Amino acid sequence: MRLETLFIGHPIKILDRVDSTNSTAFDVIRESSPAEGYVIRAIEQVAGRGQRGTSWASEPGANLTFSIILRPHFLPVPNQFQLTKAVALGIAGFISHYLDDHKNVSIKWPNDIYVKNYKIGGVLIENVLERSTLKFSVIGIGINVNQTVFDPSLPNPISLKTLTNKDFNLDDCLYLLCSFIEKYYLVLRSSNYEQIDEAYLNLLYRRGTEGNFRLNGEAIRGTITGVNPLGHLVLEKKTNKDSYDIIHVSDLKQLVFL
Ligand code: BTN
Repeated sequence: MRLETLFIGHPIKILDRVDSTNSTAFDVIRESSPAEGYVIRAIEQVAGRGQRGTSWASEPGANLTFSIILRPHFLPVPNQFQLTKAVALGIAGFISHYLDDHKNVSIKWPNDIYVKNYKIGGVLIENVLERSTLKFSVIGIGINVNQTVFDPSLPNPISLKTLTNKDFNLDDCLYLLCSFIEKYYLVLRSSNYEQIDEAYLNLLYRRGTEGNFRLNGEAIRGTITGVNPLGHLVLEKKTNKDSYDIIHVSDLKQLVFL
């Protein structure tokens, strides 16, 4: 397969071993003026970083661990969650491409990629702001591709190989993933927020079905209805039989899905 994008993946730098591709991307930004779309992929990441200060472990050579440098200067800082959405939609599209039933693929707020109740990929976005817009955005992506044995401490990992019983060529996967992400990034660049909002809402994990959560330590019943423009999760918390409180959850730490 060939890379068929306009700019994402031009170039793709493959490094054998790094701490974190996001950290390497920031070195590149400091040392040069990288073109939009510059990709750094690691065969092995020894200090992979996840959201909220967690770590991201990945078997060397088995998966995709990479970062894309973008320059979304068109995006006002208050709208930066649109970029989170666009990237998550691109990854979800890529995963769906390989599965028989794309309905199993969803985005767990804010941007974990799920297949049924299992996590197949995660995203860590780190931005450099300049005045009121984004000067650089480093999009760090980890996708479980060919790994089949996971650290038992992980709650619910899954990979493309576990789902399909097939081995995947990581270069081909990266090329296709770049295409999917570029497609949604271009929608964002044309300011077509409605298209992104609608697609994200359609894929939002556990949206519209009443369920159990722990919110700031308290067990509640509620229904996810969407996200607000700041990217906070909107949850209808059941108070009694026919009344609800609308809660805006800003930090994933506040909410546990039960
Ligand atoms: C998460 O789910 O918490 C986000 C995980 C993001 C992992 C990727 S792997 C490539 C890039 N480099 C990092 O150090 N982290 C991201």
